[in-house]
Amino acid sequence: MADRTPLVIDTDPGIDDALAILLALASPEVDLRLVTTVHGNVDLAQTTENALRVLHLAGRSDVPVAAGARDSLVHPQPERAGHVHGASGLGGVELPPSPVPADPRPAVLALAEVLTASPVPVTVAAIGPWTNIALLLAAHPEAAPRIGRLVLMGGSAGRGGNVTAAAEFNAWSDPEAAHAVLTSTVPTTLVGLDVTLPTVLDEDGVARIAAAGRVGRTAAAILRQYLDHARSAHGTTGVVVHDALALTEAVVPGTLGTVRRDVVVDTTPGPGRGQTIVDRRAVSGAPTAVDVAETVDSPAAVEFLVARLEALARAVG
Ligand code: RIB
Ligand code: CA
Repeated sequence: MADRTPLVIDTDPGIDDALAILLALASPEVDLRLVTTVHGNVDLAQTTENALRVLHLAGRSDVPVAAGARDSLVHPQPERAGHVHGASGLGGVELPPSPVPADPRPAVLALAEVLTASPVPVTVAAIGPWTNIALLLAAHPEAAPRIGRLVLMGGSAGRGGNVTAAAEFNAWSDPEAAHAVLTSTVPTTLVGLDVTLPTVLDEDGVARIAAAGRVGRTAAAILRQYLDHARSAHGTTGVVVHDALALTEAVVPGTLGTVRRDVVVDTTPGPGRGQTIVDRRAVSGAPTAVDVAETVDSPAAVEFLVARLEALARAVG
């Protein structure tokens, strides 16, 4: 596809992050130029190793992986999500190591270089805590205008939280970074729990992915931990693949119904810390407003994901 949109993914793999990376590789609309890693579901060293191994799984070790922030900007937040993603972050599945090491550049420098070198605007999908994005905007303001759109997985407008009653995990992991990113003037789409929680990949979808070849079998094995956790923790028979939905919006703009809203983040130390406070009283005309995803066709989004992963698995073999 001649006019593929350059894409960078900032991520904390993470089971749903892994699916999002595979979805990007399956999508001819985008050209994945760089993966940057961040603390989050597991520690930075593990998220970086996981990103390298997922790219290798799909035969795409050509995509550079640059490691970023190992903790949040201001207040250390060491709590990880191993109980959800497994201690290694990929559901206990041991992927073959990549023959390619991580890029020697720090993530923020790699991001700035990819952005400033691109002749066309770059889509940046940030699907872990937004520490690297905040650092990029602070350290390389010249790169910000090269971001065509910033698609964030995180936050919640009206669905409360998942890591606390008030906060979603990515925003909660670094509220100061979340506030800086959500009040910048970069064109931003916020894909939060309001649209991810209703979008459930069920056992049938996982079975279809598993039947599509080696990459599909491996992706399904990684999802097994997610499925088991969902069943034991929530009594559900499907999984919410938050990051894959955000990547779907990055790959196909307009997948989700959005409204421009003012968003601030609670950065206090109290019970609301990390909450994204979305002003739904009105559509905002402010330059710092964010396109908040408020509606989703969940069955269509799940079908899109499964079909793309099936196609990737068949293509890779
Ligand atoms: O709240 C969901 C988000 O937190 C997803 O990005 C998941 O991978 C975790 O990072
Ligand atoms: Ca993630």
